[in-house]
Amino acid sequence: MFLLEISYTSFFEAALTSALSLVLLLAASHQLWSLRWHSTRDRGSSLPLPKGSMGWPFFGETLHWLVQGSSFHSSRREKYGNIFKTHLLGKPVIRVTGAENIRKILLGEHHLVSTQWPQSTQIILGSNTLSNSIGELHRQKRKMMSKVLSSAALESYLPRIHEAVRWEVRSWCRGVGPVSMLSCAKALTFRIAARILLGLSLTDTQFQELTRTFEQLVENLFCLPLDIPFSGLRKGMKARDTLHQYMEEAIKEKLSKRDPDACEDALDYLINSAKEGGKEINMQELKESAIELIFAAFLTTASASTSLVLLLLKHPSAIHKIRQELASHGLSEHCEQCLPATENPNNNILQDNGHQCLTAGCQLPLVMGTEGQVKTLWEQTKQLLTDRTDQDPQNSLSSKNLVNGENRIQEAPCSHDKSNCSPVPGKLQNSVFEGTCQQNISLEKLKSLHYLDCVVKEVLRLLPPVSGGYRTALQTFELDGYQIPKGWSVMYSIRDTHETAAVYQNAEMFDPERFSTERDEGKLGRFNYIPFGGGARSCIGKELAQIILKILAMELVTTAKWELATPSFPKMQTVPVVHPVDGLQLSFSFLGSNDSDKAARNRSLANP
Ligand code: HEM
Repeated sequence: MFLLEISYTSFFEAALTSALSLVLLLAASHQLWSLRWHSTRDRGSSLPLPKGSMGWPFFGETLHWLVQGSSFHSSRREKYGNIFKTHLLGKPVIRVTGAENIRKILLGEHHLVSTQWPQSTQIILGSNTLSNSIGELHRQKRKMMSKVLSSAALESYLPRIHEAVRWEVRSWCRGVGPVSMLSCAKALTFRIAARILLGLSLTDTQFQELTRTFEQLVENLFCLPLDIPFSGLRKGMKARDTLHQYMEEAIKEKLSKRDPDACEDALDYLINSAKEGGKEINMQELKESAIELIFAAFLTTASASTSLVLLLLKHPSAIHKIRQELASHGLSEHCEQCLPATENPNNNILQDNGHQCLTAGCQLPLVMGTEGQVKTLWEQTKQLLTDRTDQDPQNSLSSKNLVNGENRIQEAPCSHDKSNCSPVPGKLQNSVFEGTCQQNISLEKLKSLHYLDCVVKEVLRLLPPVSGGYRTALQTFELDGYQIPKGWSVMYSIRDTHETAAVYQNAEMFDPERFSTERDEGKLGRFNYIPFGGGARSCIGKELAQIILKILAMELVTTAKWELATPSFPKMQTVPVVHPVDGLQLSFSFLGSNDSDKAARNRSLANP
């Protein structure tokens, strides 16, 4: 008994000693790690390093950052102030908030600081990308890439973007059950980036596979730079290799068929503008630029689209005002020869089987007959089914094929004003017909929609997709009384700057009118509004992103109604971009349809 007690006591003592040693070891390593970074301060400068913690050896505060999300930065900003130090993704980082501090960083590109994405991002995206290039090379590449996103180029993409957005919104409304808005927005932006921007021909299966691979690449862009089995870096590199392989084949195919003077998509613009600069662009550069464009456009625009839908859902008065504005610009007039959805007896069938006459608010799909007479879509569909089945029974179109995406029916030229209708140059894959009815939205017309512009700006202010940008200090410099030592990473904060800028009245509120000409709070300090960064590295896709968001808002408010499919609004996460934790589960239906119609339609689709 006595012996047993002794052995219990010694076991307890041994465990306690081991635990204490471990704690001491951890505390010592924590302290040594802090000292190690303290010693790298520039002794030539008398200024102190910013306050903050460097976390644990090697990992720094990476795990805290991944787990805490947005509260990681806000809690430290509250504790240490607008400039604080930390250690993330294998590097010492100084996080900077506030317009004045950010001005110095953004305008200091190439002399005070230089862009430096985390190592994992550099390895995965490659050295030939615009984001990873510096100095003169960056300037040249930017000039080349800006052609891809120039006003002329954007004007030429516009009809296809409109077509893609319209198609996706209608498919959400036709869908059975709730959808994840984030997944829908990702599919939409991937479609726009891959098909319209890069002109890639993708089957539905390829499209889905590539979207998945792309998501894998993006998910692993920000990880520890460890190239070991199952690590994030290894997964990201694998996804990149798969995408490069696909891109190489697609680019080769495109180049073999391409008219050398054509300028239909970004790849054409890239090849041509490189030639104008007296340079041939090689395959590696093309592949990396293509992936970079999709990466830069994909998650950011998907995040902003999801936030747009979320904030409109929370603020129906904004939907009402957008509708009023569209009406005042003649963009929601009912086509007189088309019946509104509620008056159309075949509405459910028509909505299931095809697209609607696309003048905003015009609900009944019409198709031009051979002599120009107008037929309803259903008549045309029946005819098409009969013709196809007669010709080739293997190739017959079931109504399911027609619902299912890409096998599409020609949309109606608006019979009331043919000047508003035009063939869409870049039809979607496998379209049954190439033409489609649509109201021509020009860049000029989009710009004239001021309230819509305010809404988009406010969405990007309140929920900026990118929370900040990465730089590295090229020399030691002073920022608000602290030294920023040469070689350290600097991360400027977009979200925190928007949240804390004194120029915004009730900054936490969704208030699009703050950007109206009368108030224009955004003008009160250039670096208080930076959803697209600023200076030499500002986003080259900002016009494109805003066009997509505006067209999405227009299509939504004129076509759809949507409601939350969960009991409460989801929490938001910020890594790698701002997004709702559950993707935002929504039920969409056509405006004017009643919900029991949709329920019946869903039932009949589920049990054909
Ligand atoms: C709402 C959508 C978008 C947001 C919020 C956004 C945000 C940003 C931000 C903050 C930067 C600067 C990063 C830095 O300072 O290091 C940036 C850079 C960049 N963006 Fe965007 N972006 C969006 C959409 C797009 C689109 C659609 C494209 C292209 C099709 C694009 C292409 C780029 C490129 C290539 C850069 C790097 C520029 C350089 O290094 O010179 N972005 N973006």
